[in-house]
Amino acid sequence: MVTDMQIQQNLTVCVPIEEAEFIRTKLLESKSLDMNRKIKKVIENGKEHLLLPVTKVIPEHICLKDDTPEFYESHRSLKELLSDEIPAQELAKIPSSWQVIGTVIVITIPEELNDIVTLIGQKLLQMYPRCTCVVRDKGIKGAFRLPEREIIAGSGTETLHKENGCIFKLDVTKVMFSKGNLAEKKLMSISASNEFVVDMFAGIGYFSVPIAVHSSPKKIIAIELNPVSFGYLQENILLNHVENLVEPILGDCADVTPEGVADRVIMGYVGTTHHYLLNGIRALKPEGGVLHYHETTPEKLLLERPVNRIKEAAFHLGKNTEIVEIRRIKKYAPGVWHVVVDAKIT
Ligand SMILES: C[S@@+](CC[C@H](N)C(=O)[O-])C[C@H]1O[C@@H](n2cnc3c(N)ncnc32)[C@H](O)[C@@H]1O
Repeated sequence: MVTDMQIQQNLTVCVPIEEAEFIRTKLLESKSLDMNRKIKKVIENGKEHLLLPVTKVIPEHICLKDDTPEFYESHRSLKELLSDEIPAQELAKIPSSWQVIGTVIVITIPEELNDIVTLIGQKLLQMYPRCTCVVRDKGIKGAFRLPEREIIAGSGTETLHKENGCIFKLDVTKVMFSKGNLAEKKLMSISASNEFVVDMFAGIGYFSVPIAVHSSPKKIIAIELNPVSFGYLQENILLNHVENLVEPILGDCADVTPEGVADRVIMGYVGTTHHYLLNGIRALKPEGGVLHYHETTPEKLLLERPVNRIKEAAFHLGKNTEIVEIRRIKKYAPGVWHVVVDAKIT
């Protein structure tokens, strides 16, 4: 039985290249060759050697720890990996999707599988050798959109995640990272050339960073209320080298949103976004600009409620509204959609 400990040590045997094939076959026969890792070539004492990945110490060879292992992606599904270890009725409830955020896997597991969450976590780590931690997701709560998550295997919940040519540092147990918004984030990231942008609910920089990286904006004001997210926002601005373009502001956008400056305002928050509509519209330049207003809307009200809310707020400020587009981002709850409305306000 191969233990997690031995696999995590990434052991190899270092063998001269002429003997490598013979030894590799022997290791394969004795089931000691680690099929998840790649064989590497190294020069030892001026001669070519191969590092054969192994799952345990092989006494007849020199064993070395590989600090920079290279892995093959696993092609076996989670269900296949668990099929010998759990009964069919549990197997049927095993999730078929999860999120990989940097080196962390985030998975929602039904209550009925509570007794085998550790096993599920271990199998996922086997499937994704680059990952170090698996956390169970139990939803997102409150105004700060804080995730409820617990570690079920491995360790290390702070990670670096690459997306759309940007790098995001975050702790998946402390701040949310929504992959469902990827198309929207890509769209925003190419929309703001030479513009002044206000991102009212900036989080860790989900919109501000890609806009700064891809769109050559004039300037972005990124507002965030949660000090933990704000800390990551500051770090992500530096990590992506956009400190000359993005100005982070810690505070409530109801209080700190600037007025009359923006060509484009992003209101990327759901729940009570409409409470901030007047602030969002006031942030636009006097001659007008574009508002991206997010909302969670019951299916039946999809085309009316967010549009009416924008129109009413604009009317209150003596402005006109032209609806450019309404996009469904994702299902938020049964019968409820996360939508974005793009509106030209003049
Ligand atoms: C849903 S997250 C950002 C998500 C991001 N736009 C995305 O698409 O993944 C919303 C952020 O708004 C912040 N927030 C909530 N209320 C706020 C307020 N009144 N002022 C500023 N930020 C606020 C939360 O802390 C959270 O980080």
